[in-house]
Amino acid sequence: MDQQAPSALYAARRAQLASQLGPGGIAIIPTALEHPRNRDSDFLFRHDSYFYYLTGFTEPQAWLVVAGDGESTLFCNPKDAEREVWDGLRLGPEAAPDALGLQAAHPVNELDQRLPKLLENRSVVWYPFATHPGLESRLNGWLGAVRARVRYGVICPESQRDLCGPLDEMRLVKDRHEQDTMRRAAQISARAHIRAMQRSAAMLRAGQDVREYHLDAELLHEFRQHGSQYPAYGSIVAAGANACILHYRADAAPIRDGELVLIDAGCELDGYASDITRTFPANGRFSGPQRTLYELVLASQEAAVAATRAGARFNDPHEATVAVLAQGLLDVGLLDTNKVGSAQDVIANRSYFPFYMHRTSHWLGMDVHDCGSYVEPTQIGQISTRKDPLSGETIQDRPSRILRPGMVLTIEPGLYVRPADGVPPAFWNIGIRIEDDAIVTDTGCELISRGVPVAVDEIEALMRA
Ligand code: GLY
Ligand code: MN
Ligand code: MN
Repeated sequence: MDQQAPSALYAARRAQLASQLGPGGIAIIPTALEHPRNRDSDFLFRHDSYFYYLTGFTEPQAWLVVAGDGESTLFCNPKDAEREVWDGLRLGPEAAPDALGLQAAHPVNELDQRLPKLLENRSVVWYPFATHPGLESRLNGWLGAVRARVRYGVICPESQRDLCGPLDEMRLVKDRHEQDTMRRAAQISARAHIRAMQRSAAMLRAGQDVREYHLDAELLHEFRQHGSQYPAYGSIVAAGANACILHYRADAAPIRDGELVLIDAGCELDGYASDITRTFPANGRFSGPQRTLYELVLASQEAAVAATRAGARFNDPHEATVAVLAQGLLDVGLLDTNKVGSAQDVIANRSYFPFYMHRTSHWLGMDVHDCGSYVEPTQIGQISTRKDPLSGETIQDRPSRILRPGMVLTIEPGLYVRPADGVPPAFWNIGIRIEDDAIVTDTGCELISRGVPVAVDEIEALMRA
């Protein structure tokens, strides 16, 4: 169990959720399933984020039920001396109410017996739709048991609603405890990036055979050294041309003198993700073409950062990035103005797409691609349509989310240059992304991941150290 947050904080979140369920509402939230890896070995268990957000409880095989009147009931593994010898200590339902600030707790093997009783005489059942395999059929079984008793005057819930809606909105704005945890996670990840950069340069200076996995090892070392439970996602350590593969993973490719290395890696700390990308020269010195493209990506990131503040739209940093990249691609000769026109034409026709094919931001929180609507809920009915210039598809646009203090997003522009006709060979196989994590504030944003620098001179200096 995470000791960082007091149980009162989770109780307050449950109370806030209960107030949105309505008096006849009841919510069911299971934690994540355990997944076998092979034979007797499971994948490392990681709790469900919604469940954890409302309990701080990290044991598997647990369920939370929150009623509209504010009563919360936990189902968890019962104490079992023999099982605890093998799998570790369990909190158990006797200790859970006091430890977690809940009204009641029961052994999880009583779920099927007790759930129909809890669902009786409620009007609405809330649960997270399409997130937990098997949940819908389990719920159908419980509702069937309630319906079997209607002839005794019991009322069966008549509607089901998606709990993701209210929970996503709550999770989208991070409270002070969450922001502090995310700052600490980002600081650990920043140190890990520095460690990997320095190892790369040191090994090359010593004439050693540097592999992507050597740098991955540095990341993992630093994450665990500072108490992170695991990486928040599969680390990308991409040498040279591998950086142009967006979902490349740390593998065994050699890291060569003169090439760039792209590392996209962040730790998870006490349930919260960090997500940082740095691109650096393997030997510690940028070549001319590498520096040209790097500084273009950095300028586009600076424009995005300047566009990130409360009151701005989620799409504003992306549009600021694209404006800088469009002009820059023309300036450096990756796009030919005789073929694609002005920077405005490049933006309108998305001619930048072969070099920049992803978006600039996503929400960050418990999940690396965190939950939360990207559309402004107060303007959801304002629909405009347009034709995508590349695919010809008709796209429906709704106004993008208005940023509020406490929202957390990444800012991660990039450029990826594959060998192709008309592309200057000096830029071939260069892939660059620079990614930072930003907490939205009233006046701008706080970049919590800048413990690892982004400026060319600063990266070169730390790699000399
Ligand atoms: N590391 C995942 C992402 O940047 O979106
Ligand atoms: Mn990201
Ligand atoms: Mn990333």
